[in-house]
Amino acid sequence: MIRSIVNFICRSSGREADVSEETLKTRLDPSRMPRHVAIIMDGNGRWALRRGMPRAYGHRAGVESLRDIVRVSSEIGLKVLTVYAFSTENWKRPREEIDVLMNLLVEYLHKEIDELCRNNVKVRAIGKIEELPAHARRAVAIAHERTESCTGLIFNIALNYGGRMELVEAVRAISAKVARNELSPDDIGQEAISNHLYTAGQPDPDLLIRPSGDYRVSNFLLWQLAYTEFWLTDVMWPDFRRIHLLQALVDFQRRQRRFGGLN
Ligand code: IPE
Ligand code: IPE
Ligand code: MG
Repeated sequence: MIRSIVNFICRSSGREADVSEETLKTRLDPSRMPRHVAIIMDGNGRWALRRGMPRAYGHRAGVESLRDIVRVSSEIGLKVLTVYAFSTENWKRPREEIDVLMNLLVEYLHKEIDELCRNNVKVRAIGKIEELPAHARRAVAIAHERTESCTGLIFNIALNYGGRMELVEAVRAISAKVARNELSPDDIGQEAISNHLYTAGQPDPDLLIRPSGDYRVSNFLLWQLAYTEFWLTDVMWPDFRRIHLLQALVDFQRRQRRFGGLN
């Protein structure tokens, strides 16, 4: 009881909030790093509106956060970073906003690709890529090709991604194999399903970060999040920087993961 009150107070007052980046780094235990961090890059629109600016201004500012987070993820040796950039539901937004988001993606990939290659980052787009506009598909194809042989950080960009759609596609692929007698229904277990997701072969996320104060999953990595630790913050994505990622990692390393078992 006392422990949970202490935990609550520590969490709600943001224990790491006033600690410098250098100190946070020294607090990190390299042997307990998450292998896979997933981020819902949320809050761009509200961040801009609060400044009396159009939503597009927030999306552009959000790209700076992405740049910083990809760099630090690579520096600290994460194996996989997955960012939610555009959901299957985001098509409900006005055409102009969708265009801004697609243009920013293309611009980002174009500007960053050399540095990503230099840093040995392997770029993967996950989602229904074939439904993206042609210029976005091209940018993704170039990024895939240029970073194909990179062996460092795997950087998944979730684009036209939906967790439910991902499961639908996996079920379709598995059913097709059953119909062709390549797979027996008895062989369909959790591993077979994982192997038919966009993230096949990658570890599930250890840590999910959602900025901007909303507490929901928004159709992100539904299967893969089964035992993921959540770190939620009111910091808006355009303000999110490496210090916030380090805060999340330090907090993650304090947690006890039980996976349904006992301490
Ligand atoms: C995240 O910011 C970017 C995308 C969803 C593509 P939002 O655009 O959702 O910003 P808010 O949540 O409206 O503030
Ligand atoms: C989730 O954010 C999708 C991305 C960040 C790309 P949304 O802003 O679309 O989520 P909801 O609508 O608030 O659930
Ligand atoms: Mg949002």
